[in-house]
Amino acid sequence: MSKTKIAVFSGAGMSQESGIMTFRDMGGLWEQYDITEVASPIAWANTPQLVMDFYNQRRKQLFECEPNKGHLLIAQLEKKYDVQVITQNVDDLHERAGSTNVLHLHGELKKVRSTIDTSLVYEMKDWELKLGDLCEKGSQLRPHIVWFGEAVWAMHEAVELIQEAEMVLVVGTSLNVYPAAGLMNYIKDTIPIYVIDPGSPAFTPQENITFIQKKASHGMEELIDILMSN
Ligand code: OAD
Repeated sequence: MSKTKIAVFSGAGMSQESGIMTFRDMGGLWEQYDITEVASPIAWANTPQLVMDFYNQRRKQLFECEPNKGHLLIAQLEKKYDVQVITQNVDDLHERAGSTNVLHLHGELKKVRSTIDTSLVYEMKDWELKLGDLCEKGSQLRPHIVWFGEAVWAMHEAVELIQEAEMVLVVGTSLNVYPAAGLMNYIKDTIPIYVIDPGSPAFTPQENITFIQKKASHGMEELIDILMSN
């Protein structure tokens, strides 16, 4: 018998307990930084050092973080389910927890890419990217991140994956950022949806949606009991 397909859609709250700051909570990253100054193509054109410093700091921190219980429990679901993670997060904590199918909508912090050939993507062994670090064709390397105003290349694949899902878990996202949040519109009608978040993401209550108003680790502990027992 084929396994039930679960899509997990995760956001910054998923990694909060690993020590990574969210964006829009009180004291979140976008309270401390102006998005357009650190996460946009214009910023990269005008002040590349500032942009690089911002992502270097995030990358340095990521090398020191570990997956939390929430990531680990999502990976465990693969014992019984066909699990596809679709994440807005640029960290690699789902992968390090053992999830085998992870699609990153907003890029990956530990990767950098060429500024003249988008197919030249490199894994970073260390945290620091510098001006003067070049791709094999001689152009500056940039963070492999989707900046504001740039296309979300993985969106088409994400739509197909979420349309196939027979159950959806939404963990730790405010659902404020489009097009990513628009994925919710492609979920099949009436399939079970579980939303784990201590806050109140922008979701219209419906019969098939269960809200678990807890942090990712505690919410996943509650959900794993339900999903692994029957
Ligand atoms: P937000 O910061 O907008 O939302 C974080 C969500 O996580 C909120 O709903 C919080 O209530 C919830 N939360 C906080 N702590 C949690 C915990 N321990 N467990 C579970 N949930 C928790 O982050 P995102 O929705 O991920 O894009 O933001 C989406 C995109 O906006 C990001 O990918 C990033 C940002 O700008 C780019 O950088 C391109």
